[in-house]
Amino acid sequence: MKVLVLDGSPKGKEGRTMKLTEKFIEGVKEARPDCLVEYICLKDVRIEPCTGCSACWRKTQGRCVIDDDAMSIRDKYVKADIIVWSFPLYIYGAPSKTKACMDRIVFPSLMPQMYYDKDGVIRHPWRFKGRHEKQVLISTCGFPQIEHNFDALLAQMNIINANITNILCCASGALYPPMFDAYRERVEAYLADVKQAGIEYIRNDAISLPVINRLKEPLVPPAEFMERFNASWDWDYVDER
Ligand SMILES: Cc1cc2nc3c(=O)[nH]c(=O)nc-3n(C[C@H](O)[C@H](O)[C@H](O)COP(=O)(O)O)c2cc1C
Repeated sequence: MKVLVLDGSPKGKEGRTMKLTEKFIEGVKEARPDCLVEYICLKDVRIEPCTGCSACWRKTQGRCVIDDDAMSIRDKYVKADIIVWSFPLYIYGAPSKTKACMDRIVFPSLMPQMYYDKDGVIRHPWRFKGRHEKQVLISTCGFPQIEHNFDALLAQMNIINANITNILCCASGALYPPMFDAYRERVEAYLADVKQAGIEYIRNDAISLPVINRLKEPLVPPAEFMERFNASWDWDYVDER
């Protein structure tokens, strides 16, 4: 079994999101010790934005004509059994390089024709045989609230892949010092649940409801988080322009 982790944090492995993703993968490996996990750190690869030339549809049968790393990632994306999208929330969506990666690997993997799927959604057919349906989104965000904050990203990821499994963590400031020191026990319990989610996902293709519900809880109660967070900033400076 091949698992491909697409790490879209501009901080790469040092980011908060990868703290969760590494725990999830720990669970995956515990459940399936023989699985092969490959990480691609998007900050370290060359991915130009899509130019919209449509050569991948008109001329090259699904290969992008831009000479960078996107096609080698796409080839791994198509062959993996499980894709883990791991990235922070940036202005209610994916960070720009992650979005560029999605554009560059998903669009050339589709055929131009349109059809209605079983739910009445108009789609393009998938270009390759045996499309994997197993995708996981792991994301963190700064606000201590999942609702509203993740709505747009979830809608986008769910329409790309209706079966996508989500692990969304808010109040991510608690994952690192100084807040981590105050909430260590809570954060460690949360990370243990993320690992449990990895185990369950491999064993059952799904995460159990109690674990899902625990993962939805903010790391720190919102009012408490905002009070601590706000106290750590200097409010005196106002730009008068
Ligand atoms: C450019 C930018 C945009 C952000 N947008 C949001 C946002 O829309 N909502 C939110 O709650 N946090 C937002 N954040 C905070 C990050 O999502 C949060 O700090 C995240 O945990 C960082 O993950 P990382 O360490 O893996 O990169 C933003 C941060 C940056 C730098």
